[in-house]
Amino acid sequence: MLKTNSTGSLQCRLPIILAVAGLISLTFMFLWTSPQNFCLPQQLSFKPNSGGHHVVNNNSLDEAVVDKPILLLWVYPENYRFDLNICKTVYNIDGCHLTDNRSLYSNTDAVLLFHKAIRLHTLPPSPRPPFQKWIWMNVESPTNTWKTPGIENLFNLTLSYREDSDIPVRSRLTSRKIPDENFEIPKKEKLICWVVSNNADRTGVGTRNNYYKELSKHVYVHVYGKAYGTFLDYKDYFPTIASCKFYLSFENSIHKDYITEKFNGPLAVGTVPVVLGPPRKNYEKFVPGDSFIHVDDFPDAKSLAEYLQRLDKDDEAYRRYFNWRRHFSTRPHLILKNQEFVLAICTACDYVGRHKEYKVAHDIYKWYFN
Ligand SMILES: *[C@@H]1O[C@H](CO)[C@@H](O)[C@H](O)[C@H]1NC(C)=O
Ligand SMILES: *[C@@H]1O[C@H](CO)[C@@H](O)[C@H](O)[C@H]1NC(C)=O
Ligand SMILES: *[C@@H]1O[C@H](CO)[C@@H](O)[C@H](O)[C@H]1NC(C)=O
Repeated sequence: MLKTNSTGSLQCRLPIILAVAGLISLTFMFLWTSPQNFCLPQQLSFKPNSGGHHVVNNNSLDEAVVDKPILLLWVYPENYRFDLNICKTVYNIDGCHLTDNRSLYSNTDAVLLFHKAIRLHTLPPSPRPPFQKWIWMNVESPTNTWKTPGIENLFNLTLSYREDSDIPVRSRLTSRKIPDENFEIPKKEKLICWVVSNNADRTGVGTRNNYYKELSKHVYVHVYGKAYGTFLDYKDYFPTIASCKFYLSFENSIHKDYITEKFNGPLAVGTVPVVLGPPRKNYEKFVPGDSFIHVDDFPDAKSLAEYLQRLDKDDEAYRRYFNWRRHFSTRPHLILKNQEFVLAICTACDYVGRHKEYKVAHDIYKWYFN
C-alpha cells in the first residue's frame, strides 16, 4: 500500500516539478529582458513591522477583503457614528466590505444613501461606475417621510421596513429544531407598561394617544419616556419592559408592514405585546398569532382593559402567550441611540454580499406613497 502510494504521488509530482522549472526559467528570461519591471517585486517586498500595509504579500486575508463587494455609507444617518465592524461582531454578517471612505467611491459596488440626508447637491458624483448600485434607505413610514424632489429615478435598490422593498429590514423570529423547554417568564411587578419618547402630533401619533387615554380610564398604565417626563436609561430599558406583564407596542402611524422595535422589545424579553398598528393578519406574517394581543381583537379599550385584568388572575391563560418560544427564538434589538440604523445598514451589507444582478428602482415615490 505505502509503496504504490508514494510512487503514485511521485508520478503526480513530476509534471509539477517540470512546470515549476519552466516557470523559473521563463521568469529569468522576463527579468533579463525588462529591467524596469525588475524593481516591482522589490517595492512590494516589505520589511516586517513597517507600518502594517500588508497589501500584497498576504494573499489569504487581503485578497478576501478585496474580493468582497464594497458598500459605501455615503453619510452616517442622523450623524450617528458607530464601529463599522459591528455587522460582523453583532450579526455575523461579513459579506461586504463596509466603509465610510469616499476615496473608494470609484471602486464601490453599492452606495447607501439615507433618504433624510439626500439633497441633489450632496449626491455622489455622476456618472456612477456602471457596476455600481445606489440604495435608497428609509426606515420611516410614509407619514414621516418627506419628498426630496428630483431623486425619484436615481436608485437601483430600495431599503425599508416594507416587505416589498428590495432589502426589507426587521428583526425576525428564527426557528429552532430542538424545542426550548426551559423558558421562564421573567418576574412581573407591573401589569401594563408603555415607553414613549415621541409625542409630536405631526408624526401621526393621534390614534395611539387617543387609545391610551381611553385605556387608562379603565386600567393603570405605567408610562415611561421623554414624552411623559420620566426618561428611562438605556440600561433599564429591557429590564423595565420585562417586569411588566403587558407592553403597549403602539406604532406612531399605521401602515402595512410598519411593525417596529416597539414590538420586538417585549417579544424578546418575555412580555406580551399589546399592539396597535396594521391589522392582525399583517403581524401574523411575522410572528405566531398567539404571541400578542391586538387592540382590534376588542370592540373598545374598556373590554381590552377587562381582558388584561382577567389574564392577570389567570396564570395558565397568560402562560399560553409564550408557547411559541418552544420553537422560535428572537433577540433583543440594539438600543443605543447611535445604533438606531445598524440593523438596516448590516442588512444592506448582507444583500450586497449576495447579489450582483442588474436592477433599477423606478419612481420610488410612486411605490412608497401608494
Ligand atoms: C496574513 O495576515 C494575517 C494578519 O495580518 C496573518 O495573521 C497571517 O499570518 C498572514 N498570512 C500570510 C500567508 O502571510
Ligand atoms: C481612504 O482610502 C484611501 C484610498 O484607499 C486611503 O488612501 C485613505 O487612507 C483612506 N482613508 C481613511 C481615513 O481610511
Ligand atoms: C442602476 O440604476 C441606474 C438607473 O437608476 C442604471 O442606469 C444603472 O445601469 C443601474 N446599475 C446597475 C448595476 O444595476
